[in-house]
Amino acid sequence: MLARPQAARSAWRSAQRALLSSTAARRTHPTQPLDPLPPRPDSTPATPPPSHPSAAPNASAGPSASSSAGTTHFGFRDVPEQMKESLVKGVFSSVASSYDVMNDAMSLGIHRLWKDHYVSKLDPHGGLKCLDVAGGTGDIAMRILDHAREKYGDRETSVSMLDINPEMLEEGKKRFAKTMYHNTPQVSFHLGNAEHLEQFADNSFDLYTIAFGIRNCTHPDKVVEEAYRVLKPGGVLSVLEFSNVPNPILSQAYDLWSFNVIPALGHILASDRDSYAYLVESIRRFYKAPEFAEVIRKAGFQVAQNEPWEPLTFGIAAIHTGVKV
Ligand SMILES: C[S@@+](CC[C@H](N)C(=O)[O-])C[C@H]1O[C@@H](n2cnc3c(N)ncnc32)[C@H](O)[C@@H]1O
Repeated sequence: MLARPQAARSAWRSAQRALLSSTAARRTHPTQPLDPLPPRPDSTPATPPPSHPSAAPNASAGPSASSSAGTTHFGFRDVPEQMKESLVKGVFSSVASSYDVMNDAMSLGIHRLWKDHYVSKLDPHGGLKCLDVAGGTGDIAMRILDHAREKYGDRETSVSMLDINPEMLEEGKKRFAKTMYHNTPQVSFHLGNAEHLEQFADNSFDLYTIAFGIRNCTHPDKVVEEAYRVLKPGGVLSVLEFSNVPNPILSQAYDLWSFNVIPALGHILASDRDSYAYLVESIRRFYKAPEFAEVIRKAGFQVAQNEPWEPLTFGIAAIHTGVKV
C-alpha cells in the first residue's frame, strides 16, 4: 500500500502533463497485431478500388468526415449508422473465445510490446481510478494493475473495465478470476457503449484508456467527448489505435502486405479471408493521426503542440494523449 496516495497521484498528474511538452521517444517494432474480424456479408474485394478514398496510402478523412448523412463505414462498405453497432458486436461475439490466441498468432506477439510500452509510458500508480473502455479480454486493465503493484507496491489503483460485448467481457472476467485481483475493489466489469457512459458520473476518473477499440465505434468523436466528461480535471485520456504510415515507400509496402498477405494469412490460418480483409479496411477508414489529434483537441483536451501523438512501428499504430483542462 502507498503511504501517501494523494501525493503520488498528484505527482503522477504532473508527470503526465510534463510528457505533453516533452519529445516522445519514437519506437519501432517489426510487425503489427491483428484482431480477428467478421465475415463480410457480400463479395466486396479486399483491395480498394482505385476511386475509393482509401485506395491512396494517405487519403481519406476520418469516419465522421467521410460518412454521408445516416451512413457510416463498416470496413470499405457504407452501412446505415444504426447497423454498425450490431455488426461490430457480432464480430467480437464470434471471436471472443479465440481472440487472445489469434491476436498473438497473427501479430507474432508484437501487440504485447505495444501494450507494454503504452502502459509503462502511462506509469499508473498512486491509487488512480482508471476506466479501460473497449477493454475486451483485459489486456490493458491487467497491465495497469500489474504495473502499479509491481513497480510501486500499489494495491489501491483500480480499473473499471467496460465493453459493449458480453462475450468479450466474460473472457476478461475469466482471466481476472485466476488472479489476485479477483473479488477485490481493484477491478470491476461493465457492459456498455463507449459513446454513452451513463453508468459513470462526471469527473470521476484519473485515467481513461482505450486500446484498439475506438475505430470500431460508430462515432469516435462522441467517445472522446464522453471520455472528457467522466475524467476529473487534470485526468488523462490515452488512446492506442492503428494509425497511418507517413513514409510513401513504407506505406506502399505496408499496403501491399496488408491487402494481399493478411487476407491470405486469414484464409490459411483461420479459413477466414474476409475477416482479415475487413481488419485492413477498418484500419484504413479510421482517422489519420493529425485528424484524430484534432478530434481530441476539439473535445476540450490539452494535446501536445509538437508531437500530439507517438507513432509506433513506422506509424502502423499510435498513442494519442490528451489532458482534461
Ligand atoms: C480489438 S478489441 C480490443 C480489446 C482490448 N482493448 C485489447 O487491446 O486487446 C476491440 C474491443 O472493442 C469493443 N467495442 C467495440 N465497439 C465498442 C463500443 N462502442 N463501446 C465499447 N466497446 C466496444 C469490442 O467488443 C472489443 O472487445
